Amino acid sequence: MSPALHPDLEPLTFLLGTWAGTGDGAYPTIADFAYGEQITMAHTGAPFLSYMQRTWSLADNRPLHAETGYLRTSRTGTGWRVQLVVAQPTGIVEVDEGVLARALKDGTSCESIVLTSTTVARTSTAKDVTAVRRVWEVCGDVMSERLEMAAVGQPLQLHLEARLTRQDHDNDR
Ligand code: HEM
Repeated sequence: MSPALHPDLEPLTFLLGTWAGTGDGAYPTIADFAYGEQITMAHTGAPFLSYMQRTWSLADNRPLHAETGYLRTSRTGTGWRVQLVVAQPTGIVEVDEGVLARALKDGTSCESIVLTSTTVARTSTAKDVTAVRRVWEVCGDVMSERLEMAAVGQPLQLHLEARLTRQDHDNDR
């Protein structure tokens, strides 16, 4: 039996579960690419949500980026704020903060998190990433993801866009 969700995670319930799909990557300094992606968002009953992601090339199936981290929430006078810490195998650690939003799109209720980096720390050989902006939007069983970054001398702009669908309809929630 899964543990009860900590009340601080109620606003993040929409993220829980396993998601899979495909995305497109781009940046002015690299060739465009297409990738597959799987994400798992889980909880233990404690006030954090764990986030695990892996990706692979759709061209030849080789593993690409992967990352893992934790999400937490904090209450404000009027709602919630969200915090993400995430470690990347490329020598980057990101600390992001943001807000939750809710919108009606074509009659479907959509929930989203918009996160902006407050810190990007890098090992001595990591690429020069200076800012990241992430958007996760869930409409029913569809998750849209968007990641923008400022890196290698380029201003903040799109690196990744993906569309995932919920894989498990009765677990984890
Ligand atoms: C879905 C996740 C991701 C995928 C599939 C992905 C894929 C790629 C690929 C294929 C490249 C070009 C080849 C290479 O350097 O390996 C690349 C470059 C790069 N990515 Fe990502 N990436 C992902 C997430 C991220 C994230 C989260 C960051 C940083 C916040 C990041 C930062 C970079 C940088 C800095 C470059 C190098 C640009 C350059 O040197 O011109 N990537 N990415």
